[in-house]
Amino acid sequence: MNIIKTKDETRAAFAQLKSQGKTLGLVPTMGYLHEGHISLIKKSRRECDATVVSIFVNPIQFGPGEDFEKYPRDTKRDIGIAEKEKVDFIFSPEAEEMYGKNNLAYVNVEKMDKVMCGKFRPDHFRGVCTVVLKLFNIIKPDRAYFGEKDFQQLIIIKKMVKDLDVDVKIIGCKTIRETDGVAMSSRNKYLTEKERMNAAVLYDTILFAEKEIKKGLRDLAEIKKECLDLLKANESVKNIDYFDLRDPETLDELQKNKNITGSILIACAVYIGKTRLIDNKVVLL
Ligand code: PAJ
Repeated sequence: MNIIKTKDETRAAFAQLKSQGKTLGLVPTMGYLHEGHISLIKKSRRECDATVVSIFVNPIQFGPGEDFEKYPRDTKRDIGIAEKEKVDFIFSPEAEEMYGKNNLAYVNVEKMDKVMCGKFRPDHFRGVCTVVLKLFNIIKPDRAYFGEKDFQQLIIIKKMVKDLDVDVKIIGCKTIRETDGVAMSSRNKYLTEKERMNAAVLYDTILFAEKEIKKGLRDLAEIKKECLDLLKANESVKNIDYFDLRDPETLDELQKNKNITGSILIACAVYIGKTRLIDNKVVLL
């Protein structure tokens, strides 16, 4: 496995691969790898000739007062996991290598970046889109793998690629969960034992909403209210940013019995203690 720290080395390594006609898969991550990341790596390994995992805790997608400083980092462990998974390259640049001293260019996917997580983390998706487009430009992958766990991120990146004619295929991968349904996340590390147990309330509530929808109920405001009550009743839930029912393609909020097409996105962001967790599910009607 080749560990690359600079853009120049990256360009040289991948130009050589390309000249041999090989396909390249990219798995962008912020490290502290878990089974969710590993499922993306395995998919890329199945579908592409070579796989590169980027590990970069991207400062510009964290807002003031968020967890950039304390975000879990363990490069040695990540390298061990990547080696075991037969990753071909790790790209792990320093922030200055990535952005230089005077970065002034950013990418916005408007409207979709203002709802759900975007409403509570202003500039978050601008930071994500900017770093992901830079990774695409530096690495020039044929395919890039993203988890449905961060559904809004996946949809926004797909939109960015479409609207800016970026030549890469975006592959969405299903959410990997613990046995109690909790979505795997590097941030689960912040939870106390009791909070970790209570974190199951996110997915339990999403499954409750799914059941109501599958029963044929279409009063989405009523379903949302019931779900908020369920969340609030949990002793570890300290704040609810949102529990929404939306169109999975446009992220528009769905109205009762109106503009409901083939599927409904159920998504939430909830503080378990001091830790903000997100989860979602797309229900096919
Ligand atoms: P990070 O949180 O490290 O996640 C990297 C990728 O792994 C994302 O595409 C995310 O959706 C996926 N992932 C995380 N948990 C998952 C799970 N339980 N099941 C399936 N996939 C999962 O998302 C980011 O980093 C950053 O925003 C990034 C795209 C790298 C840009 O900085």
